[in-house]
Amino acid sequence: MNVLVTGGCGFIGSNLVKYLRRERPDWKIVNLDKLTYAGNLETLADLEGDPRHVFVRGDIANRELVEHLIVQHGIDAVMHLAAESHVDRSILGPEVFIHTNVLGTQQLLEACRARGVKRFLMVSTDEVYGSLGPTGAFTETSPLQPSSPYSASKTSSDLVALAYHHTFKMDVVVTRCSNNYGRYQFPEKLIPLMVVNALHDKPLPVYGDGANVRDWLHVDDHCQGLLVALEKGRAGEVYNIGGGSERRNIEIVKGILGLLKKPESLIQYVADRPGHDRRYAIDPTKIRTELGYQPKHTFEQGLAETVTWYVENRAWWERVTSGAYRQYFDTQYKARLQGRG
Ligand code: NAD
Ligand code: TYD
Repeated sequence: MNVLVTGGCGFIGSNLVKYLRRERPDWKIVNLDKLTYAGNLETLADLEGDPRHVFVRGDIANRELVEHLIVQHGIDAVMHLAAESHVDRSILGPEVFIHTNVLGTQQLLEACRARGVKRFLMVSTDEVYGSLGPTGAFTETSPLQPSSPYSASKTSSDLVALAYHHTFKMDVVVTRCSNNYGRYQFPEKLIPLMVVNALHDKPLPVYGDGANVRDWLHVDDHCQGLLVALEKGRAGEVYNIGGGSERRNIEIVKGILGLLKKPESLIQYVADRPGHDRRYAIDPTKIRTELGYQPKHTFEQGLAETVTWYVENRAWWERVTSGAYRQYFDTQYKARLQGRG
C-alpha cells in the first residue's frame, strides 16, 4: 500500500505516521504537510533516512502538486488530517480555516478523483454535532449543528467528502473523533497548555465555570480507529470514534496539578470562549460492532503518561513555543483576562 497522509507533522498526523510505521511496516507513507505553526518536522526526526517515509512540504490546496504526488508514488489511499484545528484561533481569524479545511479539502478530493485514488479517509471531528445537554451522546445520525468557525469548516469538508461519494462514486469513509490527548500535542490545547503552564508556575486559564465536558481519547487509540476505518470501513459511511471518557475541564486541570504536585491556587478562571460548546459525548457503538474497534487506554493512565512525557520532553515543547507562538498566546489570553475584569 502507498498511502498519502496529509498533516503528518501535526499532533495526530505525526503519531499516525509513527503508528503506521510500526503496524504496517511495508507501507510507503507520503507525508504532505505545509508546516504551519502546528507542524513540526522534528517530531519525525527518528524517521530520517527511512525510505518508506517521504516528506513533502506543500499545501493540500495545491492540486497540481497533489496530482503529481499521487502519480509519482502510485498512491492507493489518502488519510486526510491536514487542517487548521484550534477553535480559539478560528474565533480570532476564521479565514484560513475556510482556505485549508474547506477549499483545501475540496482540491484534495478533486485531485484524488482525477487520479483514481482507491480510498479517501476523511478525518473529521465530533464537533460537527455541536453541543449536548447533560445527557445523551452523538450517534452518526445526530443533526450537524457546528458552533465555531472551526467546527463549521470541518462540517463543510466532511459533507463535501460525502458528496464526492454520493455524486462521483468516490470511495470515501468519514471518521468523527472526540478530543484527543497524548504526546506531541501543541501546547495551545487544554491538556498540554495546562501542563506547560504548571511547569512554569504560571496561571492555568480555565474558561467560564470549568464545567464543560469533553470525551477524551488517547491519540494512539484514535490512530487505531483510523487504520480500522481505512481498512475495513464501508464506502460512504461515517464512523464515530470515542473513548467513553467524559471529564469536566476542571477535573482534568486539577488532575494535572495533582500529578505535577503543584498547588490548585494556580487555577485562574477567565472569561468564557464565545459560543463555547457545553458538552461532547460519543456513542461508539457503530465502529465497535461493525469494525470490532475498542480503545486500549484508560484516561487516568493515559493522562499520567502524557504528563510524564511533557516533563521529560521539555526541549520539544520549548522549541515549538517560540516567539511567534507567545505573541499569539498574549493576544488570546490578555483579552480574556481583561474580560473577567
Ligand atoms: P494539528 O493542528 O496539530 O496539525 C495539523 C497539521 O496540518 C499541521 O502539521 C499543519 O502544518 C498541517 N496543515 C495545516 N494546513 C495545511 C495545509 N493547507 N496543507 C498541508 N498541511 C497543512 O491538528 P491535529 O490535532 O493533529 O488534528 C488533525 C486532524 O484531526 C484535523 O483534521 C482535526 O480536525 C482532526 N481532529 C482532531 C482532534 C483533536 O482532538 N486534536 C479530534 C478530532 C478530529
Ligand atoms: P481545546 O483543547 O481547545 O479543545 P476543543 O475546544 O476543540 O474541545 O479545549 C478543550 C476544553 O478546554 C474546552 O472546553 C475549552 C477548555 N479550555 C480552557 O478552559 N482553557 C484553555 O486555555 C483552553 C485552551 C481550553
